[in-house]
Amino acid sequence: MTGDVRESVKFESDLALDLIGVVEEAAIASARTMGEGERDKSDQVAVHAMRRAFEQVHIAGTIVIGEGERDKAPMLYIGEPVGAPAPPGVEYPDVDIAVDPLEGTNLCALGTPNAISVLAASEKGGLLHAPDCYMEKIIAGPACRGSLDIDAPVEENLKEMARCLDRRVKDLVVVVLDRPRHAKLIAQIRAAGARIRLISDGDLSAGIAVAVRGSGVHAVMGSGGAPEGVITAAAIRCLSGAMVGRLVVDSPQLEERIVSMGIRDPHRIYSARELAPGRNIVFAACGVTDGALLRGVRFFGQGCRTHSLVMTLTTNKARFVDTVHMETSPGPRGVRLY
Ligand code: FBP
Repeated sequence: MTGDVRESVKFESDLALDLIGVVEEAAIASARTMGEGERDKSDQVAVHAMRRAFEQVHIAGTIVIGEGERDKAPMLYIGEPVGAPAPPGVEYPDVDIAVDPLEGTNLCALGTPNAISVLAASEKGGLLHAPDCYMEKIIAGPACRGSLDIDAPVEENLKEMARCLDRRVKDLVVVVLDRPRHAKLIAQIRAAGARIRLISDGDLSAGIAVAVRGSGVHAVMGSGGAPEGVITAAAIRCLSGAMVGRLVVDSPQLEERIVSMGIRDPHRIYSARELAPGRNIVFAACGVTDGALLRGVRFFGQGCRTHSLVMTLTTNKARFVDTVHMETSPGPRGVRLY
């Protein structure tokens, strides 16, 4: 093992367990509000809980993708420092962090599947500082690496994916956010003969699912949040999946803002590696409501149980973590685990 690799392994393994704790806390807090129909409240409690949980993590962290600008978001804003204060003479590692404390605020508010709490972490500069705009995305599994072309007609991309996956176009299932802006895309997918799964929200968990064999979905197409795009790219790198993305620049003001954030070419087409170029990457997600990959939070008399996924790039690990959180120490009758 070279010194660089040893350092990466240490960076990732030191962080992985701590970051599971961070997404777990946000998931538990928002899951308590499930079905209340109050999306902003669900988001807010997740943000609070995530921020508090970061206070226990020994890092000099900086939020690079968060809840927005400082004046609009009281916490977890872009540029916010997070992590435990280092004691005198101790230096914690610099870590860039992209967070979505509650991905699928509507899903949580309605109690529908696939709401998650999620983050990605890397060394400084390891995650693109994307503005809060839309990003066109095509995401698929590892077999499709190098074969996706965001400028090619939809039918061509589907034919290529089918070839890579050794199936017919009509066997493919493409996940698309159910939005009026996708009417043309949906018509083109239908015309090509592929099957479609329309989702109301949550293209990030869909993006992870397509890179996992046996999930029953093969691609995500269409535009969704750019911040979600960067976090998806971090997961896709850990899963060796395929992704291309391009910011949707629909006004001169946005173009200016993108340039002011340090992106020289706002119309550039990014691969997963360019969206999340870090040498060290840790991706962590915890289910809020039940979903395809992760179960939601289950509460019981003495605590709750969470289901999380943590992935690390250098060590090539994807761990599913099933945690029982006990509110009190178990009494004489022992602990209830569900
Ligand atoms: P929120 O959790 O912030 O509500 O985002 C949910 C989501 O569906 C994302 O998964 C997706 O990328 C984005 O919103 C799509 O945005 P829009 O709802 O504006 O089409």
